[in-house]
Amino acid sequence: MPGVALVGSGSARLPGTLTNDDLSRVVDTTDEWISTRTGIRARHLAAPEESLASLAAQAGRAALEMAQIAPEAVDMILLATSTPDDLFGSAGQVQAELGASRAVAFDLTAACSGFVFALVTAAQYIRTGAFQTVLVIGADVLSRWTDWSDRTTCVLFGDGAGAVVLKASEQDNLLGFQLCSDGSMNGVLRLPYQAQSAPLTEGIAVQQGTFTPITMNGREVYKFAVSRVPEVIEKALFRANLTTADIDWLILHQANQRILDAVAQRLKVPSERVVSNMAQHGNTSAASVPLALDEAVRAGYIKPGDTIATAGFGAGLTWGSAIVKWG
Ligand SMILES: CC(C)(COP(=O)(O)OP(=O)(O)OC[C@H]1O[C@@H](n2cnc3c(N)ncnc32)[C@H](O)[C@@H]1OP(=O)(O)O)[C@@H](O)C(=O)NCCC(=O)NCCS
Repeated sequence: MPGVALVGSGSARLPGTLTNDDLSRVVDTTDEWISTRTGIRARHLAAPEESLASLAAQAGRAALEMAQIAPEAVDMILLATSTPDDLFGSAGQVQAELGASRAVAFDLTAACSGFVFALVTAAQYIRTGAFQTVLVIGADVLSRWTDWSDRTTCVLFGDGAGAVVLKASEQDNLLGFQLCSDGSMNGVLRLPYQAQSAPLTEGIAVQQGTFTPITMNGREVYKFAVSRVPEVIEKALFRANLTTADIDWLILHQANQRILDAVAQRLKVPSERVVSNMAQHGNTSAASVPLALDEAVRAGYIKPGDTIATAGFGAGLTWGSAIVKWG
């Protein structure tokens, strides 16, 4: 069975920055409240003319360049996003922008777990021998679906895009994984469609509406994350025949620094091994894991052969972990 190598990473550069002080002029909040409760100091916002697909393509292009792989050599593009430009999917636009003419491209939605779910999904196509080269992108523009008058949610999110290139290889660097969902807890974090009934003709009505901004029960999400995330990482490590002592880097979905600290403490991973870019980016949903990975790779922290425990968690509810070796 072919193995999977991680041969490149990339992310998009978003020039627009919104600091906590900027936000304190939008809602009743302070830099002190936001930074002590979450670790976030600023987040980036996509420019109004920027599409989700163009951000995703930017991240994908950077990852392909690092991997030294031409877009025409890509067999599949998997775009993890909850905020496509088009409900029919945005991966096709990414394919066109990149000129990845041979690739099949489609979206995958699993909120803030999306990138980890997409990484594992992509690896299965490589392991079966169906595809050799897959571009996995996590990208979200939650700023477009945030209620900017709700201080309990609007301070948390930012926009971003990150990507990795997977390639068939003799050695398998996806060492273990575990993916989970619990739809019975769907109500604690939602971006729901709200329909209104519109009469069409006699006795027949259609539902027409729109998506409404993010709603969240922060405390429930917090409790869920600090209990389920360490558990799922331990299960993925068990499948990899590893223990927490083998982790070189812990890359969790960047939701809240307190969640990162609590999970690391439970797993006994020292803080210098925990990758965090919370302060500069906030919660970028499906982008957060590949963005943190790319920054750590380009800064020279993560080196080929390092063992990385990744974990995503969020709406659905969904959560999952993939244990990978870089390279
Ligand atoms: C959102 C979160 C930071 C809130 O922290 P918390 O300690 O639970 O805070 P609470 O919601 O209990 O609110 C405490 C007080 O702060 C207030 N508050 C909430 N947001 C505020 C803000 N941005 N600025 C100032 N005060 C705020 C509340 O109104 C409340 O005031 P009250 O006591 O007078 O009612 C925390 O619950 C969290 O991080 N949860 C996980 C969320 C998450 O990661 N979601 C995404 C997962 S993918």
